[in-house]
Amino acid sequence: MPAAGSRSSYERSIKEPSPSRQEGLALTQSFTRADLDDLAAILAAAADVEIMPRFKRLGTDEVTTKSGPQDFVTIADQAAERFIQARVAERFPTAVFIGEETTAADPTRLGRLAGAELAIIVDPIDGTFNFANGMPLFGVMAAVVAGGETVGAIIYDPIGRDFALAVKGEGAWLVPRDGGPARRLRVAAADDLRVMHGPVSWPYLPEGLREDVARRLPRLWGSYGYRNAAHEYRLLSSGGCHFLLYNRLMPWDHLPGHLIHTEAGGWSAHFDGTPYVPTDLGGGLLLAPDRESWQRIHDALFQD
Ligand code: IPD
Ligand code: CA
Ligand code: CA
Repeated sequence: MPAAGSRSSYERSIKEPSPSRQEGLALTQSFTRADLDDLAAILAAAADVEIMPRFKRLGTDEVTTKSGPQDFVTIADQAAERFIQARVAERFPTAVFIGEETTAADPTRLGRLAGAELAIIVDPIDGTFNFANGMPLFGVMAAVVAGGETVGAIIYDPIGRDFALAVKGEGAWLVPRDGGPARRLRVAAADDLRVMHGPVSWPYLPEGLREDVARRLPRLWGSYGYRNAAHEYRLLSSGGCHFLLYNRLMPWDHLPGHLIHTEAGGWSAHFDGTPYVPTDLGGGLLLAPDRESWQRIHDALFQD
C-alpha cells in the first residue's frame, strides 16, 4: 500500500482519462486495470438492461426458490447473468466464467475455479431477497481470480450508482459511476467490544454453534443483517461497521468483498484462524479491523 496521502498509480488512473488508464497497471500479466474497468462497465450495463427495469415490477411467477425457502431467484438474476456471461465471453475469451445461476444449473462449474489461470466469478444480484421484496439494497458483484488468488474485485450498487473496487496490493476505492472523485476505502478503527458492531449471519451456522454464537452476541454492541453481502462488505470496508461473520462461503458471495476489505486495511480469517482462499467453501469467515480485534471478537463469540 502506498503511504497515506500519496496517490497510488491506481488512484491516478481512476482520475486521469485514457490513454493512461489503458496503459495502466496489470493486475496480472493477462488482466489490466483497464480490463477491470471494462468488467465494471459490463456489470453496470447488466443492471441498466436486466435488473433495474424489473425492480418493483416482478410478477409472482417471476420469483422462485432454489435450495430452500430462503434462497430466492428471479428472472432478473437469470437474465443479468446471461447478459454478463455473454459479454465476458466476448471481452475475456480465455477466462473461466463462474456465475451463481449457471452454477446452480450445473454445479460441476465450481470445480473449474481450482487451477484456472484466469477466472471471473459473478453474482448477478446479491440481495435477491431484498430485490424481490422491493427493497433498494442489493448489488452486482464480480471477482477476478488469477492463479488461485483474488486480484480484482467489484461491487456495483445500481441504486447509488457507484462501484466499490479493489486491486490486490494497490487498495480499495469507491468510484462514482457518473463522475466525481474516487474515495479510498478504509476500515473502522478497532474499539472496545461494547462499542463494536456489525452483521452476523448466524442462521447459517451449524446447529449447536448457532445457538452458542447467538447467545453471546450481547457481548458486542450490536449485530444485524442486511440480507446482502454486497452492502455488508461495502459498509465494513468504508468503516461503517467493525466486523462481519459468515458461515456459507460461496465464492460469488465473498471473493469480491473479502479483497475489498483486505485492501481497505482489514484482517480476516476462517473461524480457526487460517487464511481464506478462493476455493474454500467452508470453515466460516470472520472479518475485523485488525488482527488483535479479530481475536477479541472471535473469543467473545466462540468461547464461554
Ligand atoms: C445471499 C446474500 C445473503 C447471504 C446469503 C447469500 P443472494 O446472496 O448475500 O446476505 O447471507 O448467504 O446467499 O442469494 O441474494 O445472491
Ligand atoms: Ca449472493
Ligand atoms: Ca445472487
